[in-house]
Parts: sequence; structure tokens; C-alpha cells
Amino acid sequence: MESPPTHRFDAPACVQHGAGVRAQLPERVREFGGTRVLLVTDPGIVKLGVAGEAVAALERAGIAVAVFDGVQPDPTDANVAQGFEALRAHRADLVVALGGGSPIDVAKVVAIRAANPEPLPAFMGLHKIAHPGLPVIAMPTTAGTGSEVTKVAVITDVGRRVKMMMLSARLLPRAALVDYELSLGMPKPLTAAVGVDTLTHGIEAYVSRKANALTDPLALQCIELTARHLRQAWAEPSNREAREGMMLAATLGGLAFSNSSVALVHGMSRPLGTLLHLPHGLSNAVLLPAVTRYSIPAASERYAAVARTVRCAAPETSAPAACAALVEWLEALNRTLEIPRLSECARQPWSRVEPELLKMAQDALASGSPAQNPRLPTPEEIAQLYREAW
Ligand SMILES: NC(=O)c1ccc[n+]([C@@H]2O[C@H](COP(=O)([O-])OP(=O)(O)OC[C@H]3O[C@@H](n4cnc5c(N)ncnc54)[C@H](O)[C@@H]3O)[C@@H](O)[C@H]2O)c1
Ligand SMILES: [Fe+2]
Repeated sequence: MESPPTHRFDAPACVQHGAGVRAQLPERVREFGGTRVLLVTDPGIVKLGVAGEAVAALERAGIAVAVFDGVQPDPTDANVAQGFEALRAHRADLVVALGGGSPIDVAKVVAIRAANPEPLPAFMGLHKIAHPGLPVIAMPTTAGTGSEVTKVAVITDVGRRVKMMMLSARLLPRAALVDYELSLGMPKPLTAAVGVDTLTHGIEAYVSRKANALTDPLALQCIELTARHLRQAWAEPSNREAREGMMLAATLGGLAFSNSSVALVHGMSRPLGTLLHLPHGLSNAVLLPAVTRYSIPAASERYAAVARTVRCAAPETSAPAACAALVEWLEALNRTLEIPRLSECARQPWSRVEPELLKMAQDALASGSPAQNPRLPTPEEIAQLYREAW
């Protein structure tokens, strides 16, 4: 007899959330044994003044800080190498990540490199990191990837044009300080793209073949908060209630998908990042409606529950009607948030993309995420879905 499936749930030792929790950074650094900190961030965050504020707070507490602010969006292996040089030069014993998913992912990989000298591709895949690295404390500024609470990092191997997905409990931040005030300044296109990324985390975690009793409530709460707050966060960037709702949704989505999994949307978004250079959130957003329509027949009760959670279907609505309403709701959401279609953001004619379709489909499948989708796609079906999203 086959034994029943078991599940593992990983989360940071400490997650603090609410307005102003960023002020707790020096205390958390001390709690996790830090005396010399490397702060990993990007030029945009430095410009906002948020990095300077964190450095000043740490220095006031007598903690020696060096800043690595060279992370680029959808970060590369070179970013990790430069960050690791900065870590060594400063002889840091703890890493603080400040920014969106890109600085947080670089910080995680820089921290494990302190104890794992192998070339980066050795860490690709599941549980490939042998030794614990330095502790990481993550403070997200987008809402967002949820990377502050996940055991995942995504780094682009520029030479091979591959987004390396690394999943290992060694990558988990020790603490996350989730302060929605850091997201108040996000411009509309960023709010839209990272917000639909959050929604995709919730939906994919919930319909995934790895969904389980601990991830389901987190995924549904992520979806509910996103439906309630994303439009308002986009329309009124300084609306504190909406920003708080989205920041919490992002953290819940991270906990859900990293302990369940993402699925076909994330798999198919990977080649859009490497080939068309679309940012992660946008590449998911342009695919979500078409992939949902395709996947519904294999998990209609689950998608109907998503529809009821976003309130585009009443509790008594039948599953087929609720699922149809969900696809329409997702399309309308993209239109409201002014998310362009794939053809508008690709900056390439279809004639250049079409010959790559099968390679893109193979790259999507190679990510492993489509294997967790409720409906398992062939390469030809994936190519057809890119066509539909175009
Ligand atoms: N590790 C995970 O669990 C996980 C999950 C999903 C995505 N990701 C990865 O995260 C990356 C994307 O991260 P992201 O979408 O958060 O964006 P990002 O970190 O790439 O940031 C995008 C841009 O937004 C700016 N920015 C960030 N916060 C801002 C703020 N509050 N106000 C104004 N500007 C701000 C940054 O300076 C940057 O220029 C991708 O590489 C993706 O693969 C990781
Ligand atoms: Fe994502």
C-alpha cells in the first residue's frame, strides 16, 4: 500500500509586521548574533532614503555596517559575486536584505556562499545547499514576492540565459520585518505587477498538487486580501490600509507557495524573463488569465473556491459558472491595473518570438513548476498558451 503524502512547513523564526517595525532592526540583528552587518539593497532603495535610515539606526546601536547596493532587478550571478566580495571585505557576520525580491534573493545567496563555495549552478533545484550560511534579516519594500519568508532564491545565469531557481531551507531568512510603510512610495506599474505576482502565489499555492492543510488557509487569505486591497493600493498609493493589506498578502503568499509550490504560470514566466527581459511580476500577470482558463478543467472545485474568495461568484454559484467568472475577473483586474498584454510589453514582433516557442515551452517545463499544475501541459499546449496571452 502506498503511504499517504506528508508535508514540511518552513518559516522564519521571527516575523514581525506592522507600521514602524523597521525600527526593530538593530534589536533583531543583536538577537541573531550580528555585530558586523552587510546591508544588501539596490540603487532605487538608496534613492528613496530607506537604506540610509537603516544604516543610521544600526550605527547608532554600535553595529558596523557596509552597504552593497549593486543589485539589479531580476538579479544575476554577477550581482551575487559582487555582493559576496563586499561580505568578505567587511568580514560581516549577518546579512540584512532591504528591497524587493531582487535584493532579498541576492542577500540569501550571498549569505549561504559564506559556507558553500561551489559554483552557483550547484545550488539550483531542491535542497542542494549543504551548509547553513550567515543569518539573514529581510525587510521587504514591495508587496510583493514574499521572498522575506521563503526558502527560495531566483538568480539569472547570464551566460546560459537561465533563471536558476534554488529551494532550500538554508535560504530561509532568520527574521522578517514586514513594514508596509516601506511600500507607500511604490509607483503604479510596480504596484500592479508585484500585486498580481502576489495573487499568482496565492492561486498557484492553492491549486498546486502540493497544496496541503497548512498552506490552504494562508493561500486563501492571500487571495482574499489581494482582491480587497490591490485596486485601491494602485489607485491611491498612499492609502495605508490598502498598502498594509497588500504587504500582508505578499507575506502570506510567500509562506503558502514556498511550502506548497508555484505552478504553470511561474514556469511559463521564466523564459519571458530571460528571453524578453520582462520583470518577474509582469511576466506572471500577462499569463495568469490564459493559464487559469486552461487549468480549470482539472481543478474546478479549487478554482471555484478562489472565485468565491475574490467574491466574483456567490457561495451558491455552481463550480463551472464560478470558474468562468474567475477568468473574467482576472482579465478585468489586469485591465483596471493597466497591465499591458504580452504583445505590448515584449518589444519584439511575433515573428521573432514564434520560432522560439518550443524552446520557451521546454524551458518552462524544465523549471519543474508546471509538474505541480493541476492540468499537466504538453510543450505544444504551452506554446499555444503563449499565443493566447500574446
Ligand atoms: N525568493 C522568492 O521567494 C521569490 C518569489 C517571487 C519572485 N522572486 C524574485 O524577485 C524578483 C522581483 O522582485 P520584485 O518584484 O519585488 O522587484 P525588484 O526587487 O526587482 O524591484 C524592482 C524595482 O522596484 C524598485 N523598488 C522596490 N521597492 C520600492 C518602493 N517601495 N518604492 C519605489 N521603488 C521600489 C527597486 O529599486 C527596483 O528598481 C525577481 O528576480 C523574482 O524572480 C523571488
Ligand atoms: Fe512570483
